[in-house]
Amino acid sequence: MTGATRGIGQATANCLLDLGAEVLAVGRDAVRAEETRRAWEHQKLPGDVVVADVTTELGRDQIVAAVADRWSSLDTLVNNVGEGNRKPFIEVTDSDIDHLVSLNFTSTAILLRRLHPLLQRAAGASVVNVASTAGLVSVPDTAIYGAQKGALIQLSRSLAVEWAPDRIRVNSVSPWFTRTPRIEALLATAEVADRIIARTPLRRPAESEEIASVIAFLCLDASSYLTGQNLIVDGGATISGIS
Ligand SMILES: NC(=O)c1ccc[n+]([C@@H]2O[C@H](COP(=O)([O-])OP(=O)(O)OC[C@H]3O[C@@H](n4cnc5c(N)ncnc54)[C@H](OP(=O)(O)O)[C@@H]3O)[C@@H](O)[C@H]2O)c1
Repeated sequence: MTGATRGIGQATANCLLDLGAEVLAVGRDAVRAEETRRAWEHQKLPGDVVVADVTTELGRDQIVAAVADRWSSLDTLVNNVGEGNRKPFIEVTDSDIDHLVSLNFTSTAILLRRLHPLLQRAAGASVVNVASTAGLVSVPDTAIYGAQKGALIQLSRSLAVEWAPDRIRVNSVSPWFTRTPRIEALLATAEVADRIIARTPLRRPAESEEIASVIAFLCLDASSYLTGQNLIVDGGATISGIS
């Protein structure tokens, strides 16, 4: 599972470990990775962390090698890495575009292709790609990020059909604003928090655990007939008209 040393990814890894899964987490920061690994070891949970950057070929090589070293087949793959940069479109630089496309789409597409042989060897596998409501509706200053998340949702649908003969289910999850380290500062800005709350029928952002439990559901046999779907976890935001 990529991006599992913080935020939604870490909450998902914890949820899957509680459900009895073995988890291999991916993160970039070595210190945070070691803290995560030690916390799981302390709780006697079968979780480990590989330090790798999904946007580099070397990082993807390290991830594929670490997975293949541990398992001859892969039951579950959660692609959770993703990030925007909150700039109006006309201020986005060429290198911003390259980075956002690489981080939010290309890295996941390449990992999916490279891990397919291991997924194919499982007796039924589940892939969950973490997208965003920004891939469905306009969220200010996230045009490139939203476009890549929209692409990830469609990639998930296409692969759900293409990989169904291999008994690999592919779904995506699209969170709305969720309390994680990445957006803590944004949510602490009263004006932004008020706008989010006003726009959200449940009148609050999500907690990471509320996204994690939906991702975990898609990993379980409990969702065995669900594929090619995008589960929107948004407190009702995208179905709300005027309030
Ligand atoms: N939070 C929200 O409001 C929200 C809303 C909609 C969608 N989402 C989506 O949900 C997912 C998780 O978001 P989050 O808010 O939980 O993020 P977060 O708190 O920033 O955590 C991101 C995780 O990904 C890892 N990571 C980042 N870049 C990486 C890279 N290049 N290679 C390997 N690992 C990397 C981080 O580890 P290091 O720090 O060690 O790199 C960390 O473990 C993302 O796809 C995001 O787009 C979030």
